[in-house]
Amino acid sequence: EYEGIPYPTFLTFRNKGAEQTIQGIKDFQSRETDIMICTHSKSGTHWTYEILALIISNTTELAKETKGEKMLEAIPDLSVLDALPSPRILDTHVQFQNIPTRHVEKGGKIIHMIRNPKDVSVSLYNHARKDVITLNLDIPWNEYFEIWMTGKLPYGSWFDYELGMEQAEKDHPGLIYTCYYEDVKKNPTKEIKKLADFLEINVTDETIDGIAKATTFDNMQKNKMDGSKFVSDDGQGFIYRKGEIGDWKNYYTVAQNERYEALFKEKMKDSQYKFQYE
Ligand code: A3P
Repeated sequence: EYEGIPYPTFLTFRNKGAEQTIQGIKDFQSRETDIMICTHSKSGTHWTYEILALIISNTTELAKETKGEKMLEAIPDLSVLDALPSPRILDTHVQFQNIPTRHVEKGGKIIHMIRNPKDVSVSLYNHARKDVITLNLDIPWNEYFEIWMTGKLPYGSWFDYELGMEQAEKDHPGLIYTCYYEDVKKNPTKEIKKLADFLEINVTDETIDGIAKATTFDNMQKNKMDGSKFVSDDGQGFIYRKGEIGDWKNYYTVAQNERYEALFKEKMKDSQYKFQYE
């Protein structure tokens, strides 16, 4: 835990401790051409990564390798990123105040994918139960729900994260592009085109169509699971799990939903973010 925020036990945090790890991310020598994916965990980070990777390489073939993501807090020595050609796609779940300072100062592009928080909570619940190394939170749903309500989960409160991003959008106009998980799911070609436009990359309609087909949940689950570190001992994936909108209904009781709605209303009263829950 650092500055009141708990962190997962990636090797980096275990070796260096949270303070030094976070400071290392803030001090990271970002290049102007870097594209930074900023997400609360379980909001579609891997999906965003694959879409962006295809846009920048102007191809429609999903890369086979599974370790495409470059999550800053999971990399013990960030200097390994020096060897990568530009533009690099980097990602992080740390809150906005802790992302590389230089990236913001240089006006580097930021893609922020946001997802309805009820589905985020369910996705994180399932991930935390399976990922015994970094999260190791195999507890019953009702117990987990109470922790979710307090926000004391890895990377901190969802509200803090998203309100921080919303404030950052106001503080740095034009720097951050926010796309909704639900919109990409419902209308991938339209949303992929908007992403390409934000990145100022020309992609033909045909290629956009091909990227949408390559990055469907089914295709990514099939192609990214083989030999993946994202498969737990029981053979089930914890990154490509269901990929649906509305799975929260299979977990939240009516009473839990009412409590969450009340908390959401209070915390997000000044927010313009709007969510689709089904
Ligand atoms: P579920 O657990 O609800 O299935 P992250 O990459 O930030 O960890 O997010 C993981 C969530 O994104 C998982 O949600 C996963 O299934 C979903 N996801 C991954 N690829 C997807 C895709 N191509 N389409 C829709 N959802 C996808």
